[in-house]
Amino acid sequence: MNKTLISNTTVITMNDAADILEAADVLVEDNHIAAVGPTGTLNERDASVVDGRDRAVLPGLVNAHTHAAMTLLRGYADDLPLTEWLETKIWPREAFLREGDVYAGTMLAAAEMIRGGTTCYADMYFSSAEMAAAATDAGLRASVSGVLLGILPSIDEDLRREIAFVESWNDPDGRVTGAFGPHSLYTCGAEVLRGVAEEAKRLGALVHLHLLETAHERDDIVALQERTPLHALREAGLLETPVLAAHCVYLAERDVDVLAGQPFAAAHCPGSNLKLASGIAPVPDFLKKGLTAALGTDGAASNNNLDMLEEARLAALIHKANRSDATAVTAYQALFMATRAGATALNQAGTIGQLTPGYKADLLLINLTAPHMTPQHNVVANIVYSAGASDVTDTMVDGRWLMRDREVLSFNESETITKGAATAADLVIRT
Ligand code: NI
Repeated sequence: MNKTLISNTTVITMNDAADILEAADVLVEDNHIAAVGPTGTLNERDASVVDGRDRAVLPGLVNAHTHAAMTLLRGYADDLPLTEWLETKIWPREAFLREGDVYAGTMLAAAEMIRGGTTCYADMYFSSAEMAAAATDAGLRASVSGVLLGILPSIDEDLRREIAFVESWNDPDGRVTGAFGPHSLYTCGAEVLRGVAEEAKRLGALVHLHLLETAHERDDIVALQERTPLHALREAGLLETPVLAAHCVYLAERDVDVLAGQPFAAAHCPGSNLKLASGIAPVPDFLKKGLTAALGTDGAASNNNLDMLEEARLAALIHKANRSDATAVTAYQALFMATRAGATALNQAGTIGQLTPGYKADLLLINLTAPHMTPQHNVVANIVYSAGASDVTDTMVDGRWLMRDREVLSFNESETITKGAATAADLVIRT
């Protein structure tokens, strides 16, 4: 049995009691948390000891909505409205994606995520097989879905391919699991959504889609499909199976009430919503009504990084100004969104998202000694309001260190960066 003891540290458990333990130890056995307790009280025989002084340990961050390989288009098209950005810049380039590109872009994203303490992510993009291979090689936990665009003539074949993909990545204990990724209600008709919902139910798989990112999208669904977005979800059977819906900026208040009682989670993406001027999701209402609200970066082409601590800070800040209420989303709520709510959203509640015995050992260590982290009147406030990705020193997934002392261990990082840069440079000049 492999044992690691992280000793004499501050443990932010994110458990039900919201325990934050000073001078505590975390014992990891194989791939799970075996014990958490005061320093010196755990059975640490045979454990390799990691000195956690001047560090805090917290559950790994869960990026609940991203398109990892879009790192290739980071900084390629900025300061444009969403439709113009997508139709004139992003989609034309994505049409030139070749075999191997998605793997290279996802590995580049993996390096960035590991450096920022993200241990698990919900990825939706083209080439699900390459995405799953990259997550596997990087050592990260991931829910992987190919994109289904109902408007394409190939949709029947695409759906069959994704069913086969999810079937082959369907181990509930696996680190990488397949999910369905119908792009959105406006790009997938009722029939496609129904087919997806049926297969998701049959396989116990997550459905990951974009929902109500813009007012335009809401108005189009109502005008063209003559139904509300909630009706569309219900008719498709998507209220009966776990759904992870990115954005939810224009979710109506009465719909929030209904969805709060369903296996439905919103992935709030404040950075992307701000940059594309999409609007501000009613997250304080989600929290008040008990709708699971997780956090995502969205792709690096619309963010432009995958820094979940920055995303937590944005979530804690923008709703305060938007609601003229400094209590709208607290630092702790933002951190909860980035950890436990993410676990729930990815259908992994009870497995990841807190540092509690029996949970998978997905965690990060963060440096508390930097000037901007001093003093520590409130460690959670420091992490959400003061820290950034570069303060994360160590990242562990499934009991395995992916980064120790800022060194990525699970793959060759410099080769990954070189390959990602070369792939991106080629992608933008292809004709
Ligand atoms: Ni997205």
